[in-house]
Amino acid sequence: MSFDLVFFGGTGDLTWRKLMPSLFQAWRHGKLPADGRILAVARDDRDDDSYRSWLHERLQAADSAKRPTEDEYRQFAALIHYLRMDLSQPADYLRLKAWLETRRTDNTVIYLATSPHLFPTICGQLGACGLNHEGIRVVLEKPLGHDLASAQQINQAVRAVFSERQALRIDHYLGKPSVQNLMALRFGNVLFEPLWRRESIANIQITLAESLGVGTRGDFYDRTGALRDMIQNHALQLLTMVAMEPPSSADADAIRDEKLKVLRSLKPFDAASVARDVVRGQYRGGTVNGQLAKGYLDEDKVPPDSRTETFVALRCEVQNWRWAGVPFYLRTGKRMADRHADIVVNFRPTPHPIFPGAHNANKLVIKLQPEDGLELHLLAAKGSVSSAGAGAMPETLSPVSLDLDFDKAFPTDRVGAYERMLLDALAGRLNLFVRSDEQEQAWRWVEPILDNWAHDSSTVRGYTAGTWGPPAASALVARDGFAWPEEA
Ligand code: BG6
Repeated sequence: MSFDLVFFGGTGDLTWRKLMPSLFQAWRHGKLPADGRILAVARDDRDDDSYRSWLHERLQAADSAKRPTEDEYRQFAALIHYLRMDLSQPADYLRLKAWLETRRTDNTVIYLATSPHLFPTICGQLGACGLNHEGIRVVLEKPLGHDLASAQQINQAVRAVFSERQALRIDHYLGKPSVQNLMALRFGNVLFEPLWRRESIANIQITLAESLGVGTRGDFYDRTGALRDMIQNHALQLLTMVAMEPPSSADADAIRDEKLKVLRSLKPFDAASVARDVVRGQYRGGTVNGQLAKGYLDEDKVPPDSRTETFVALRCEVQNWRWAGVPFYLRTGKRMADRHADIVVNFRPTPHPIFPGAHNANKLVIKLQPEDGLELHLLAAKGSVSSAGAGAMPETLSPVSLDLDFDKAFPTDRVGAYERMLLDALAGRLNLFVRSDEQEQAWRWVEPILDNWAHDSSTVRGYTAGTWGPPAASALVARDGFAWPEEA
């Protein structure tokens, strides 16, 4: 399969930090289809060679295991080309068209790794010069809009040029191997499905915690905040994967229809429930992993009086027969105690205890990162004999866990999230891309939170960098009689 892959935003952070390194890994793993060309498009005045050297320098920042050797880079760089374009100039799109038409390819994927406000212009221009025929797909990088109206505007502009099946909205969390395993766990095995419902599950907790701060992205982040940056997309997508009904097939639309139903079943927020069930916070100075970390207000390009949230915890409910009454807790934050993401399914306690002592109920932990695996927490008898003699109570049970480490189980087959998504985009596999109706529904659901916050900035709670967020986040879960994993 031959391909042409074009990156708009070819000198941007996303391209050199994530996309090019992932493509390099795909090439190194022998997964990148043969006969491909990669074209970086940007405003800078460069040619193929100077772009290749520029990228080479950038790739030196990668982990040593992921860094290309000189010889590898020479071979990989031969696939890479550069085209200078001014995105507002129709003539420049004709030059792009001419470049693409210098040969016939099976697949052309145009990845928009630019700021989303440029998407309507770029799509319009691509359409105007005929770069929207069936053999072309566009990949749209988040953030897709700032609210429902702006997301709808972008979607309209994209839809005017490309069909839904040609427009691939990326959420890289869906490309994480552990998320594939969540699908496999639920729909490739019979063990859990009968328990996957309100009768057996007490609550579900999704944590996406980062130890890093906002880094050099202070200006972008300050306009965005944690709700838009992580909850509206990544956390809600994970929630849909956990809560969806079994799809009738593995076809992309069968899966996306079920995910959409979950988003539509989420209990809507109003002023009272935003105040009660949503906690927002902003980090203050502290120590993260033994290093001093400055507070959010002291970060570069962040206004000193900013009220932008760097942490969100919320409680929500999926209103359907399977999940009625089961709280789902989502939380995310920058500068938290650790970088870790997981989904914890807390089962109900046994209905009638016959063993002495307080028992932790069963718990399934789906670990997304840094490890990729599953942990099933059970209770077991050690088999020791009580010295209290006949008639004594049976033994107190001890917690044990079954651990599955997918990196160890499948050491050679794992691919990173962006690598997976790029290969899927090239192959036209749409399962892991978000459909416009899902994305708009997610905006519709978070919007009352944004609206209520806009009218009340008093509820931004400080938390010390290197902690698990403001105490109110613990209180949110404790109110229902539960606790976050690190407090349980
Ligand atoms: C991005 C957010 O979508 O996801 C970033 O914009 C965040 O703020 C990143 O750091 C986290 O991704 P990962 O894969 O490193 O957990």
